[in-house]
Amino acid sequence: MEFLLAGEKLQRCRTAFLDEIPAARNILLVGEGHGRCLVECCRRFKEARMVCVDASEPMLAQARRELKAHNPKATQVEFIGADVLNWPPPSKAFDLIATNFFFDCFREEQVERIICRLAAAAAPGASWLLADFQIPSGGLKRIRSRLILWAMYAFFRMMTRLPANRLTPPDSFLNRKGFVLHRRVEAEWGLLHSDWWRGPGQFGQDLV
Ligand SMILES: C[S@@+](CC[C@H](N)C(=O)[O-])C[C@H]1O[C@@H](n2cnc3c(N)ncnc32)[C@H](O)[C@@H]1O
Repeated sequence: MEFLLAGEKLQRCRTAFLDEIPAARNILLVGEGHGRCLVECCRRFKEARMVCVDASEPMLAQARRELKAHNPKATQVEFIGADVLNWPPPSKAFDLIATNFFFDCFREEQVERIICRLAAAAAPGASWLLADFQIPSGGLKRIRSRLILWAMYAFFRMMTRLPANRLTPPDSFLNRKGFVLHRRVEAEWGLLHSDWWRGPGQFGQDLV
């Protein structure tokens, strides 16, 4: 469905900063879904240990298949089937966190809760990669994005048990946890954004 509707546009957002960020040793991918970002993480960070958390067993199975198809020798990934709202991540363990097209699934209070939990799992100076939809601040771009997102939420709420009925920008919650937006690129008339956030502290300290 993604390929039919968006081609490679979403994948370009997921991987926008992957070749620029510092080498990561412990990576957490949350709501990873089909595993396309996971495959690229394994390509870029060959020595890293990775934890891939998703609430859906079929999606985890799909991610496993995707990884096996592209990188049959990869053994460094631990797959965890869990609801991130309840999953207790290890403290200060990860120097890279990736949450792509994930926060758009949740209501505002859930986005805040997830960011609090994941921020506690971030090592000092960790990178956080986050690609998602957004609503630009004005003009035709804003109207276009609002229409597209309205249709998307109506469709996905009809087809799934999606908790959210609108987009919650995660920026203020990340800022509150000391994360600073380091880079952002936008695509598709501002409908898509790809972020690289940096956590507080110095990169490379306290890694497990
Ligand atoms: C919209 S998909 C995004 C998938 C992928 N990250 C991408 O870039 O396309 C959201 C993913 O989050 C997972 N998910 C939804 N709610 C979750 C939760 N509470 N805990 C963990 N994973 C969840 C879904 O199973 C799904 O794989």
